[in-house]
Amino acid sequence: MTLEMELAQVMKGQFQHYMQKEIFEQPESVVNTMRGRINFATHTVTLGGLRAYLATIRRARRIVFVACGTSYHSALATRALFEELTEIPVSVELASDFLDRTCPVFRDDVCVFISQSGETADTILALRACIDRGALCLGVTNTASSSISRMTHCGVHINAGPEIGVASTKAYTSQYIALVLMALQLGDDRVSTAARRAEIMDGLRDMPQQIADVLATDTGLHTLAKDVLFGHASLLIMGRGYQNATVLEAALKIKEVSYMHSEGILAGELKHGPLALIDENMPVILFMTKDALYPKVQSAYEQITARKGCPILLANEGDTNAEKMPGHKIWVPRTVDCLQGLLNVLPMQLLSYHLAVLAGVDVDCPRNLAKSVTVE
Ligand code: AGP
Repeated sequence: MTLEMELAQVMKGQFQHYMQKEIFEQPESVVNTMRGRINFATHTVTLGGLRAYLATIRRARRIVFVACGTSYHSALATRALFEELTEIPVSVELASDFLDRTCPVFRDDVCVFISQSGETADTILALRACIDRGALCLGVTNTASSSISRMTHCGVHINAGPEIGVASTKAYTSQYIALVLMALQLGDDRVSTAARRAEIMDGLRDMPQQIADVLATDTGLHTLAKDVLFGHASLLIMGRGYQNATVLEAALKIKEVSYMHSEGILAGELKHGPLALIDENMPVILFMTKDALYPKVQSAYEQITARKGCPILLANEGDTNAEKMPGHKIWVPRTVDCLQGLLNVLPMQLLSYHLAVLAGVDVDCPRNLAKSVTVE
C-alpha cells in the first residue's frame, strides 16, 4: 500500500469510503456548525459575520438565494422559515437559470450565495452580476478562503469540516442549519415569533442525538437497499411542504452515487401527471412525517395504493397510523416541522450509499462528476 493509500485509509478511519465517513460525522459536524452561535438557555442566535448587516438585511426588498445542486436544495429547505420569521419575500434560484434569464436584481435586494466549495462557476458568475447591480451579497460556504467567501460583503462559514466525497452529505445538513440560524437571527426583532424561535432552537439542541439515532438504523437501511430497491430501473421519492427540498436532495443523492434513476416529486403535483408512473412495479418512497400537511400526504398515499403502488413510508417513530399501513417503513424521530428534513435526508443518504456499493461503482468519485464544478 502506497503512502498516499495509507494516508487515505487513515483519513477514512474504519469507514470504507469518504462518503460513508462524512455521513456518520454529522452528529459532530452539526455541533460544529452551531458552536458559539446559539445560546440554548437564552434562546438567542449570534452569527458574528452578519452582525453589521442585520439592519440592512431586515430592510431588504427581497432575499434571493442562489446556488447549485445540493446547496440549492438547502435553500429550498429553509425558504419557508425565512418567509415565516422575516416576512420578506424570498426567491430561490438555480445559478445557471438565474444567469440564463438575466434575472432582475436591485440595490435593495439581499442575495445569498450558498456553496460548499465556494468555487462553483455558475454561482460565482451570478455573484458577480449581483455585485454589479449593487445588491448586498452574503456567502454561505464551507471553505473560508474560497472565491465566494472572499467576494461577498459578509457571510457565514458552515464549519462542516473538509468534505471529500463528491456527493455532498454533511455539508447539506450544515448548510441547512446555518440557514436556519440566519433566519432565527433575522427574526429575533419580533416578539410575536419568540415562542416559535425557541421551539426551533430546542429542536436544534436535540438534533445531534437524533441524527445519531437515525444513523444507528443503518443496518436496516442496508437490507432495504439490497432486498427491495437494488436492481430497479427507477425510484420515485415523494413529499410536500418542508419535505419538497428533501425529496429533491434524496433523488439527487440516489442518481449521482448509484447511477439509478430517481425523481423527487412534490406530492401535491401527483395528480398533475406523475401518477401515470405508478403501478405495482414502480418503487416509491413517500415522506409522511408529522406536520400540518400530514393529511394531504396520507391522501397521496391512498392515490398511490389505489393504483396498486406500495410505497415505502418514511414516517415518525410512534406514528400508530403509519404502523397500520402496509409496506416497508423507514422510521425517524420527530422534530420541529421545519427541521424534520435534517433527519429525513439521512436514511436517503445511507440508501444511496448502499445502492452505490451494491452497484460496485466508485462511491467517492462518481463517473462524469467533480467535487467542485469550476467551469460553466
Ligand atoms: C451534491 O451532492 C453535488 N456534488 C453537487 O450538486 C453540488 O452540490 C453542486 O455542484 C454545488 O457545489 P457547491 O456547493 O460547492 O457550490
